[in-house]
Amino acid sequence: MLLNESRRDKVLHALETKHVSRVYRGGHNAWRRIAGVVDSSSRTRRIAALGQASLDGLTHQETNLGWVAPDRFERFPVAPQGRHRTLAQLHAVVRPRTYLEIGIDNGASLHAVQVPAIGVDPAPQITYDLGPHIAVARDRSDDFFARPDALAHLGGVPLDLAFIDGMHLSEFALRDFMNLEKLMPRTGVIVFDDMLPRNSLEAYRVRRTNAWAGDVYKVTEILGQHRPDLVVLPLNTNPTGTVLVTNLDPGSRILHDRYEELEAYCTTPDPQVVSPTWTRRLTARDPRRVVDSPAWAVLRDARSREVDLDAAMTQLRAIPPLR
Ligand SMILES: C[S@@+](CC[C@H](N)C(=O)[O-])C[C@H]1O[C@@H](n2cnc3c(N)ncnc32)[C@H](O)[C@@H]1O
Repeated sequence: MLLNESRRDKVLHALETKHVSRVYRGGHNAWRRIAGVVDSSSRTRRIAALGQASLDGLTHQETNLGWVAPDRFERFPVAPQGRHRTLAQLHAVVRPRTYLEIGIDNGASLHAVQVPAIGVDPAPQITYDLGPHIAVARDRSDDFFARPDALAHLGGVPLDLAFIDGMHLSEFALRDFMNLEKLMPRTGVIVFDDMLPRNSLEAYRVRRTNAWAGDVYKVTEILGQHRPDLVVLPLNTNPTGTVLVTNLDPGSRILHDRYEELEAYCTTPDPQVVSPTWTRRLTARDPRRVVDSPAWAVLRDARSREVDLDAAMTQLRAIPPLR
């Protein structure tokens, strides 16, 4: 979305008021998002960048009235655990040789990783100790993947597990997936955060609510429609659901060839109308059942010898939804 100059000034003014930064962590996050799109903190540069940047997280402050009152959440089964615990359990069963995270924020989900890892974030606010085995790339993910040596820190060891939790607009998350899949083996596992918004308002592209998922849920729809070869498992995790994807095909061109059409779908303007499949979590699996699957041992085995991966993928797909 582009803003004219006077609206940009209004947004900046709103952002600069004490009210916004005091009351809403989102106000603080909005600043960091701006920091992610400019390299200088100068006001002129920020204004210029605001004109070009996607304004998720900002427009609600234009009026300086704060967030709109959230709609009620749809009814969905109580999630047994959160996304961080689920991610930690996946680390334990996938036993990745290396790990990559897009969108690292303060390092909460990255710091416990024991294997060589890369965190990608244009404006990280790291408060955790990250050991030397974890490299932080202060980049937007698109710029990071454009570098021919992007994964150099992993020393040529295959990338087995990745977490997509950067820009919460679907075209960004889709490109993150496309870029990662090219670099990962078939047995690689990609987890997306915020894929099960709890109502349509939470999925708006222009952020209207304090807790916000964005419209990344559309990526599950795209993968379901265009890549039936993948194993795609929505997981009922707190707060806004995750999706696990495996059976990757690094050589697949399907999403790349159809990107223009897919991007048009992704960028449909608000209001978003989210299917109950996602808001009511109709196809979501219990993350504990997924973590407990015997398929993970088979996927690990496949790194060093020939095994029947099709059977393991079928086993994962067959884990029934919660309802
Ligand atoms: C929700 S936070 C990540 C939280 C973290 N993964 C965790 O679970 O603790 C989202 C992060 O994505 C970052 N981000 C925004 N746009 C990005 C982009 N284009 N590429 C990579 N990261 C981005 C933001 O700076 C922010 O720190």
